Amino acid sequence: MAPPHVLMRLLLLSAAASAAAAAGDGCSTGCDLALGSYLISRNQNLTYIASLFDIPNYKTLGLYNTKYPNLDYIQAGDRLNVSFTCGCNTFPNSAATYLAGSLPYKVSTGDTYTTIAGHFNNLTTSDWLARTNTYPENNIPDTGTVNVTVNCSCGDTNISPYYGLFLTYPLTGLTLAAVAANYSFNSSSQLELLRKYNPGMDTATSGLVFIPVKDPNGSYRPLKSSGQLLFFCKLIVLPH
Ligand SMILES: *[C@@H]1O[C@H](CO)[C@@H](O)[C@H](O)[C@H]1NC(C)=O
Ligand SMILES: *[C@@H]1O[C@H](CO)[C@@H](O)[C@H](O)[C@H]1NC(C)=O
Ligand SMILES: *[C@@H]1O[C@H](CO)[C@@H](O)[C@H](O)[C@H]1NC(C)=O
Repeated sequence: MAPPHVLMRLLLLSAAASAAAAAGDGCSTGCDLALGSYLISRNQNLTYIASLFDIPNYKTLGLYNTKYPNLDYIQAGDRLNVSFTCGCNTFPNSAATYLAGSLPYKVSTGDTYTTIAGHFNNLTTSDWLARTNTYPENNIPDTGTVNVTVNCSCGDTNISPYYGLFLTYPLTGLTLAAVAANYSFNSSSQLELLRKYNPGMDTATSGLVFIPVKDPNGSYRPLKSSGQLLFFCKLIVLPH
């Protein structure tokens, strides 16, 4: 039998490989929770926003929006953190997978992917809806349901075991560095970490970025798999 440190190394390598695949494209599993940063527009109330994210009672969003003492006083121009399940989805016409929330949206007469994406305030785009749904762009049935896909992250053991809850943030004019600073990732090493979670987004000012955020209990949520990994390592190392 191989010495324990070799087994441990093998385990770490295989766990890292599967988690890398789960970081987005080519995922095999998702995670139960991701957040999205939703910039509230005029005439949008919380009941409506919660309904877009399939949340029956907007008050449950209080958990992820502790900076607002009372959600009933939140206004247009404020950012609301919305919660959703970050699933591993398959494209309609290929076996390729990607991580996203998939939110059922009941179509009304005249809806297009553009009008539907418009309700989600840059958390998705009409192009992305067209790629992830089966209806042709100019022929969405009035009685149909469109799956509104909002990209998300579940973390990545190759990058850090300490972050397992992520906020999907539409840049809309800001850079990754500016958004990172708003979420207390200020130092150059912290920014370097966020760059790893957001490859190719260093100079972008549009599109989505993923920022690690704290749990309702006030601490960063570690990656789930890291707990299991420690458990397995103990199992193998302890007998020696
Ligand atoms: C909330 O917004 C929806 C959609 O715009 C509207 O139908 C509803 O009447 C609004 N509810 C309240 C309490 O303002
Ligand atoms: C979601 O992620 C995919 C890559 O998996 C990317 O091609 C797509 O543009 C992203 N969608 C949005 C709205 O940023
Ligand atoms: C969406 O993004 C566009 C382009 O950056 C911006 O003009 C618009 O205000 C954004 N809308 C919302 C609701 O954030």
